[in-house]
Amino acid sequence: MAKKLLITGGAGFIGSHVVRLFVNRYPQYEIYNLDKLTYAGNLENLRDIEGRDNYHFVKGDINDSEFLYSLFDTHRFHGVIHLAAESHVDRSIHNPIDFALTNVIGTVNLLNAFRRYCDQDHGRFYHISTDEVYGDLHMEDPSFTETTPYHPNSPYSASKAASDHFVRAYHATYGLPAVISNCSNNYGSHQFPEKLIPLMIHNISHRKPLPVYGKGENVRDWLWVEDHARAIDTVFHHGRLGETYNIGGNNEWKNIDLVHKLCEIMDRKLNRDAGESASLISYVTDRAGHDFRYAIDATKIKEELGWTPSVSFDEGFEKTIDWYLENEVWLGHVTSGAYLRYYESMYSGR
Ligand SMILES: NC(=O)c1ccc[n+]([C@@H]2O[C@H](COP(=O)([O-])OP(=O)(O)OC[C@H]3O[C@@H](n4cnc5c(N)ncnc54)[C@H](O)[C@@H]3O)[C@@H](O)[C@H]2O)c1
Repeated sequence: MAKKLLITGGAGFIGSHVVRLFVNRYPQYEIYNLDKLTYAGNLENLRDIEGRDNYHFVKGDINDSEFLYSLFDTHRFHGVIHLAAESHVDRSIHNPIDFALTNVIGTVNLLNAFRRYCDQDHGRFYHISTDEVYGDLHMEDPSFTETTPYHPNSPYSASKAASDHFVRAYHATYGLPAVISNCSNNYGSHQFPEKLIPLMIHNISHRKPLPVYGKGENVRDWLWVEDHARAIDTVFHHGRLGETYNIGGNNEWKNIDLVHKLCEIMDRKLNRDAGESASLISYVTDRAGHDFRYAIDATKIKEELGWTPSVSFDEGFEKTIDWYLENEVWLGHVTSGAYLRYYESMYSGR
């Protein structure tokens, strides 16, 4: 009998890449994608695989424990890859409660459902987390390792840190077979255009201002989303239970340098004069509590599990930009709701 695997948040950015990879690579699994379809989830992201025999979509909310129990009772999932979350730091500053509910309570609900029905000897619960739980670095600080103490600074990272602690606690307390990974910023296709790269591409295309926080000096490590999906495949199948794996691209950029690089490429691709896109850059009041730098040391996953990124940043970035330019229709679908009004209200007058 095919093993049943539950992937939560599979209609979102990273989740859709993970679902696609698993559906294509593992015909021996029945893949169930559980997603509430919030503003960030969109079934357009999975149009290409929606008719596949080993793929099933379930609309539902991880905050609804009765629904989860009944779903697990029916399917007895062999494994869970948990990506469903509220994921945008800016939104967490405006509305922290949604982050506490979905990211913390939702994760605990899922742990309870898995604990009740899982096969302790063979199944596993894989929790996808972020490097933001480790907090803030100065330029001269060493990168985050798996033993760096947690020091979350935003409501988003606090909620992710809390959920990581619950997963670890369920492993220690109940012997729940669990593994965690913490990844740096992802870039690639199908990302909701409130996040830096798709937002900038969208705004450059429409000659709108490019809002850059503060002086744009903050530093992030960037990883191509399809490489993150490969890493998730690796950790799910080979990661040691009870362990954490850091995942990163070894690819740090100041925000402003990244935006300038994007502007140069977009000028070329849109046949605009050099400097035209960069003239749209508009510095806005810095994000409250904005962490200065994140950097990941991904030695453990490389040495233990043999994973490394497969594409250079130049290659992944070009592919990403081309995808957004060729998929204006997708952008229309995902932005058809309240997003633009929400987003524009956040940046109005700043
Ligand atoms: N994007 C990044 O750069 C990044 C980096 C590291 C870790 N992560 C983590 O990876 C995961 C996925 O991130 P993403 O960027 O793809 O997020 P996303 O916002 O694009 O997608 C989140 C998905 O979760 C779904 N969802 C939200 N609340 C739900 C609920 N209550 N019940 C069921 N489904 C719900 C949404 O509909 C959406 O499809 C998150 O846990 C995030 O913390 C993201």
